[in-house]
Amino acid sequence: MAEANLQILLKSRPEGRPGPEHFELVQSPIPEPRHGEVLVRHRFLSLDPYMRGRMSDAVSYAPPVPLGGVMEGECVGEVVQSQHPNFAPGDWVSGARGWQGWSAAHGSTLVKLPAGSGVSPSAYLGVLGMPGRTAWIGVTEVLRPKPGETFVVAAASGAVGAVAGQVARRMGARVVGIAGGAEKCRYVTEELGFDACLDHREGLEAALDAACPNGIDCYFENVGGSVQKSVFPRMREFGRIAFCGMVAEYNQSPPPPGPNLMALVRKRLTLQGFLVNDHPRAGQEWMRNGAVLLREGKLQFREDVAQGLENAPAAFVGLLEGRNFGKLVVAI
Ligand SMILES: NC(=O)c1ccc[n+]([C@@H]2O[C@H](COP(=O)([O-])OP(=O)(O)OC[C@H]3O[C@@H](n4cnc5c(N)ncnc54)[C@H](OP(=O)(O)O)[C@@H]3O)[C@@H](O)[C@H]2O)c1
Repeated sequence: MAEANLQILLKSRPEGRPGPEHFELVQSPIPEPRHGEVLVRHRFLSLDPYMRGRMSDAVSYAPPVPLGGVMEGECVGEVVQSQHPNFAPGDWVSGARGWQGWSAAHGSTLVKLPAGSGVSPSAYLGVLGMPGRTAWIGVTEVLRPKPGETFVVAAASGAVGAVAGQVARRMGARVVGIAGGAEKCRYVTEELGFDACLDHREGLEAALDAACPNGIDCYFENVGGSVQKSVFPRMREFGRIAFCGMVAEYNQSPPPPGPNLMALVRKRLTLQGFLVNDHPRAGQEWMRNGAVLLREGKLQFREDVAQGLENAPAAFVGLLEGRNFGKLVVAI
């Protein structure tokens, strides 16, 4: 058995881009598994964009790694000793065991990898692991592309984007990836089979117009920043956007101006635009229902009445400046 457990701790919290100075490499004894626990020798550690968030103590959907704590991360590894009935030495497992070489984990926190699947254990950290699962959910549960729709995915050669585009294509969508550089774009079209891939370093506006002449029905957002800015105005009416992450903004300090759309991811918010004219039946319905509420005193309202048509322009200008108080009408 190896003599020590190498661990990487969070030493300090970065402002902006993290560097080696924010981490500390230490050696500690290899843990002894207690009753119900399994000693795992980690073989692969996953590195993922979300870890940047765990280095910060800003409010998020998950607590930060404490200073001096082992960095969080998923691992796959081999069971070396087991005090749990479901695991035996030689089993391969995955679990959130952190940036370290060994760990003793309760059996209930580990997932046994299928034996003899012919798939590399590391795949359970990527294509068959959390990133692949993320892509699968974003496409099949959130975006639900229909055959023939145009589906755009950012960070298309990455762990999530690569799966998202392939799943969308299997559902019949026309898939356009966005990636950084010619080599990644070639991989996305030639090996992943996307219909097109655009290099965001070369400027996206004209390329998106050419690749998506009828606009974009579904956008799988992984990146934010300038990519998001180029995609948004090209969305089609009744299009859908799945907010998965905005990796381009994770190191930005102070955060970019404007609303921080990461709140959509953190709080699983639903954002939907609508136009009243898409709901023609609502007019009669609301006139009936609203009138009943008014009669019964269950609906209050206030009017601001400008006198005389000649005063309409001034009243309208006032409305845009907040001078009206209640529904502005003109008594002619
Ligand atoms: N919501 C969830 O549950 C969930 C789960 C997993 C992941 N995520 C999110 O999904 C996104 C993708 O994750 P991943 O694991 O697949 O990462 P990844 O693609 O393996 O790595 C990140 C990629 O993002 C692109 N990127 C980074 N900075 C950029 C910038 N300034 N402008 C444009 N592109 C940039 C780079 O690709 P290019 O060189 O091609 O630009 C980079 O390779 C991340 O935002 C992550 O936080 C969310």
